[in-house]
Amino acid sequence: SIAASQMRNALNKMIDGVPEEKQKAKFEKEMDSFFGLFRRYLTDKAKGNTLDWEKIHSPSKEEVVSYDTLNNEASTNLDKLAVLKLNGGLGTSMGCVGPKSVIEVREGQSFLDLAVRQIEYLNKKFDTDVPLLLMDSFNTDDDTQLIVKKYQSHRIRIRTFNQSRYPRIYKDSLLPVPQTHEDDLSCWYPPGHGDLFEALVSSGELDHLLQEGKEVLFVSNGDNLGATVDLKILNHMLETGAEYIMELTDKTRADVKGGTLIKYDGKVRLLEIAQVPKEHVPEFKSIKKFTNFNTNNLWINLRAVKRLVESDALDMEIIPNEKSISVGSSELGVIQLETACGAAIRHFKGAHGVVVPRSRFLPVKTCSDLLLVKSDLYNLKHGTLVMDPSRYGGAPLVKLGSKFKKVKNFQERIPHMPKVIELDHLTVTGDVYFGRDIQLKGTVIIVCSDGHKIDIPNGSVLENVVVTGNLQI
Ligand code: UTP
Repeated sequence: SIAASQMRNALNKMIDGVPEEKQKAKFEKEMDSFFGLFRRYLTDKAKGNTLDWEKIHSPSKEEVVSYDTLNNEASTNLDKLAVLKLNGGLGTSMGCVGPKSVIEVREGQSFLDLAVRQIEYLNKKFDTDVPLLLMDSFNTDDDTQLIVKKYQSHRIRIRTFNQSRYPRIYKDSLLPVPQTHEDDLSCWYPPGHGDLFEALVSSGELDHLLQEGKEVLFVSNGDNLGATVDLKILNHMLETGAEYIMELTDKTRADVKGGTLIKYDGKVRLLEIAQVPKEHVPEFKSIKKFTNFNTNNLWINLRAVKRLVESDALDMEIIPNEKSISVGSSELGVIQLETACGAAIRHFKGAHGVVVPRSRFLPVKTCSDLLLVKSDLYNLKHGTLVMDPSRYGGAPLVKLGSKFKKVKNFQERIPHMPKVIELDHLTVTGDVYFGRDIQLKGTVIIVCSDGHKIDIPNGSVLENVVVTGNLQI
């Protein structure tokens, strides 16, 4: 097609412009992979990527196993394990610059610090040497290295490698945004965590792991504080010989958008909302038909990754992510073509899901999440947050308004975490500031209208109340 050949020409021009041979070879390989993705995007666009709803079936009991049925907790298999945190993303959505993983989440420690503590403790407890790998992107690598340095003398091996850097494309012309290989950072993007497989191989990290005798890689989002090494799942993976295990957890009304496992054409695969025909979206979101969703905690066999990458078999669904960038004084629409590592499940032998307790899914996506993980709802034990045993039921529902969106503003407005053990629901909107030693119980709603300010005084106990306007309580 014209779009494909135009793209190829533009990429070739950029490749020709790299002066140094070794750098050129690396860049060329990267652009070739990108071109493969782009071509697939054009084909998908022509034929549409929704699934045939009639062919979707629920997976069997063997394909979605309950965590409660797993019982082998032997630690001997830890020799075969490596742990990887996906660390390519920025903290932009929480108003931070730099990698998301460096945001302070608890007692002066960042996501990354907590992950390190967890693995350090594991290695000490079982006298093993599980390495921690970080998949960085060109956006996060420099800042991550500074943190990794801190741990040089600790009982943990941390290794980093970089994922790919692909060119953004203009929405209108489908041409690449960068003109040369060294164009500005805003011309490029990290192509989603589905890039993991390719990046593991091209960085040489996969061979390194195999040489060390590693067989299984435990992958999770850097912002999931519940994603700890679990011996039962590791042993289950090795006993069943599954090449890929996805941890799922039961849906609540708050997580209707997550992908779910289905049986399709005889294979277990991930169904994402983007692939659902419009008329079936309400059915997809209902918690009755699709009862659980992907936590993105994944256990992956390393040899299988090598086999699949080398045979170029991993064609994960493309997620076109639309953004806008400023060029001169105008805003232009761009697209970045991304993939997700959960979508690779259908290519692995014996792949299946394990439905795990909610405690293994503790993501921090917003400052509302941050409030809870910093609060008395959790206790920190060797880098792991454990819900306080006196809590009855799941975590409270917290909705902080737009004035709390950035971490900096959140810290100014709630410098001391309120006690929330007995809280069910908190909503805060408008110009609100919290004092110290505050207790929240039941349902608390604080609504401050425009032009007013509410200060919640030190020592307040708010139980089943609505606080409005500029009332002082
Ligand atoms: P996201 O920030 O995209 O979270 O990345 P999400 O919105 O929950 O997306 P999904 O549903 O999991 O895809 C999740 C993790 O993946 C990393 C981020 O750093 C984060 O830890 N990530 C994302 C990468 O490592 N590379 C990427 O290109 C994108």
